[in-house]
Amino acid sequence: MASPVIYQAEDAIIYNAILETVNAGYTGSCYVNYHNEVGGYIEWNVNAPSSGSYALIFRYANGTTANRPMRITVNGNIVKPSMDFVSTGAWTTWNEAGIVANLNQGNNVIRATAIASDGGPNVDYLKVFSANAFQPVSLEHHHHHH
Ligand code: GCU
Ligand code: CA
Repeated sequence: MASPVIYQAEDAIIYNAILETVNAGYTGSCYVNYHNEVGGYIEWNVNAPSSGSYALIFRYANGTTANRPMRITVNGNIVKPSMDFVSTGAWTTWNEAGIVANLNQGNNVIRATAIASDGGPNVDYLKVFSANAFQPVSLEHHHHHH
């Protein structure tokens, strides 16, 4: 998974959420609108070519001024108890927010569950790519010779 793989929200399993096309700017055929309550989720099946560290990038819109945090689990384990999905300024403005988590080789179940009473943001997709490719710039200095 050297290049990013996009998993559309509308292709995932959804619970207490609906498919919607009201607000423009999404990719694919629609996006997922969580019910405005605690407990709704989107669950993706993500295949990793090898075990290791991966970036999990969520494209979302939040047209309110309030954060819409969600709990992120991988294979049932909480990897981020409260991931922020702060305002994007409008429901038609879509931004990306990401975390890094370990995935197993093969299938992984990645679930984003609304934990606030307003529910989650609107979610367009989950993008996944290997985080092992990242080289912190600071490391480069140690290898620099004059
Ligand atoms: C608006 C918007 C929905 C959004 C909802 C919300 O109704 O059109 O897409 O999900 O607000 O507050 O969650
Ligand atoms: Ca909603």
